[in-house]
Amino acid sequence: MNIKKHVKRGLWSHLMKSGIEMGLASIIYEVGVASKYVNHAMRTGDLGLAGTSNLYGEDQLALDVVADEIIKDRLDHTGRVSRIISEEQSEIIIFERKNRKGGYSVCYDPLDGSSLVDVNLSVGTIVAIYAGDDPLQNGRKQVGAMYVLYGPRTTLVYGAGNGVHEFTLNNLGEYVLTQEYIQIREQGNIFSPGGIRRDYLPEHEKIVTKFEADGYKLRYSGGFVPDINQILLKGGGLFMYPATTTAKQGKLRLPFELNPMAYLVELAGGAATDGQKPILDLDCNDLDQRSPVYIGSRKEVALAAQFFN
Ligand code: AHG
Ligand code: MN
Ligand code: MN
Repeated sequence: MNIKKHVKRGLWSHLMKSGIEMGLASIIYEVGVASKYVNHAMRTGDLGLAGTSNLYGEDQLALDVVADEIIKDRLDHTGRVSRIISEEQSEIIIFERKNRKGGYSVCYDPLDGSSLVDVNLSVGTIVAIYAGDDPLQNGRKQVGAMYVLYGPRTTLVYGAGNGVHEFTLNNLGEYVLTQEYIQIREQGNIFSPGGIRRDYLPEHEKIVTKFEADGYKLRYSGGFVPDINQILLKGGGLFMYPATTTAKQGKLRLPFELNPMAYLVELAGGAATDGQKPILDLDCNDLDQRSPVYIGSRKEVALAAQFFN
């Protein structure tokens, strides 16, 4: 039997062959290790409230806290991370750096969409990686980004300057390569409107009406990671979470939701804007900074942006 065709490329060997710096490779790899424990906790653990709330005043689920602890611990374990921002922490966390050379800073959402777990919908982990000691950098400065999607399959998608690649967790607990150099379609067929229609501002109302009139299918799961994943990997299209009358900056956070996803989508040939400027060109000044977002296939993002100019 030709064993070669059965042995797919694992995450670590892909990272080594990609030539990226060892510290960055170990961060991506260790988030992969952490995700296996998050995956396990989600399928076996407590789905209730942690009894605490995060910086945004949102009730934290036990799973949010557990996922955050697991990822924080694995990032510290790399010995190459100096500072982190997490959706579940209220300030920048500084790791003791015993003569650690060339540190990285990491911004992550340990469990995006966590309120969907108890109804068995897909959720994800989102990670942005920067060189140096400052996690509040402009998104264009990212040296890598990744997400893990906990769905019917558990998949890990990363990009570090040279293509976007997908790995699938197999029954042996290995992440094996399933798609390489992913390219998002130039034009798609689905749209995710975001928010609540009665709160839409005129521009967003016109955009949603236009996509409906043009026959785009509405796909919106309430989970940012699965919603982006299907646009990235399948038919293309547009994900939106707009500014509204009740939330002038929209809902999604720049450091650990929008910047990493914008990095991956642009690296795969797509685009991401706040309506006026590319997401990656926005100055990132606060942990809790939010922005409206239009992200996905270039054609649809450009079409949406026209309504703001
Ligand atoms: P989180 O669970 O980390 O707070 O993020 C949830 C986000 C994102 O996953 C999704 O796109 C959005 O919330 C959905 O918001 P609505 O429930 O307001 O549609
Ligand atoms: Mn989130
Ligand atoms: Mn979250």
